[in-house]
Amino acid sequence: MSFDTTAYNRQMTHFDGHDSVWLFGYGSLIWKADFDYLERRPAAIHGWSRRFWQGSHDHRGTPEAPGRVVTLVEQADAVCHGMAYRIAPRVFEPLDIREKNGYLRVVTRMDFMDDATPPMAEGVVYLAGADNAAYLGPAPEAEIARQIAASHGPSGPNRDYLLNLAQALRELGWDDAHVFALERELHALEVTSERD
Ligand code: SIN
Repeated sequence: MSFDTTAYNRQMTHFDGHDSVWLFGYGSLIWKADFDYLERRPAAIHGWSRRFWQGSHDHRGTPEAPGRVVTLVEQADAVCHGMAYRIAPRVFEPLDIREKNGYLRVVTRMDFMDDATPPMAEGVVYLAGADNAAYLGPAPEAEIARQIAASHGPSGPNRDYLLNLAQALRELGWDDAHVFALERELHALEVTSERD
């Protein structure tokens, strides 16, 4: 598969004819909602874990020195908390470009975490699978944190992506052991480099 998934995503027909579609965001889509949405609700999807296993060549790194951003990895019993947005279908145009480095639109069920109705919906999540060209896969958390500390791209330092995500999850009251462990590793690295 090429690096640019835009053309694949444009072929999705599942929600054709719908006036609006629910989009589940679990990474930058939680804290950087720079697109039009009709409604936003905290939500969760089941059977998936958030992992910094996807390479970023276009936002938080470069093709020569990719950064690391999140994707979802299948894991029975896992729950991934995020933010759901009800969007007009035309909003997928800019989103497909933003998420073009390996992410495919996948249909998912999401459960809303608030008391409003409906309690759940079928919608879309951008998922970067292990077969995409930018996928980096697992590594020890200390190593992932070192890569994040060293990476920069057109959207800014990779560290800001991690810290903004950790902050957003904390403000929403959600735990994510992987994200918070990376945040601690990053702070430890930054303290050490200030001392040197
Ligand atoms: C998402 O936020 O849902 C996808 C990954 C990202 O853009 O960081």
